[in-house]
Amino acid sequence: MQNLTIVTLPNAVLRQKAKTINIKDIGKLGLKELARKMIIAMRQAKGIGLAAPQIGKSIRFIVVEVLPEPLVLINPVITHSSFAKELGQEGCLSIPGQWGFVKRAIKVDVEGYTLEGKKTKLNTEGLLARVIQHEVDHLDGVLFIDKVDKSQLLGGYKL
Ligand code: CO
Repeated sequence: MQNLTIVTLPNAVLRQKAKTINIKDIGKLGLKELARKMIIAMRQAKGIGLAAPQIGKSIRFIVVEVLPEPLVLINPVITHSSFAKELGQEGCLSIPGQWGFVKRAIKVDVEGYTLEGKKTKLNTEGLLARVIQHEVDHLDGVLFIDKVDKSQLLGGYKL
């Protein structure tokens, strides 16, 4: 597998609903190699999260690097979001040069599968919770620009 290229708007894959991965196929699909390549691409682009649609693969697969160790989740589902929300500034590797404030739940619980096919559940908060929400949105074709708090827009941004 070659180095991955991060796709940017207006690539239509960014607006598609990504396919659920059949857990029985984890071995066959080469997801360990895909995770490795996505982590490299994310780090090279100085990002802290990357969803498979951003490298042109419309599957429910994300990598996140907020913790010391990169986190890889297959078929991630947010099972609980805190009522408490906070604004935070976001950008996206697929939307170069744009930034905006987005209101997100402060805490989320996320379930998914590991690269070994084991079910996993994480209770997250703060930046990690924000990145997970951003990446799971990508799997539904939703981008942060859809959720930018317009009252927080600073001059000069085209959103
Ligand atoms: Co993004």
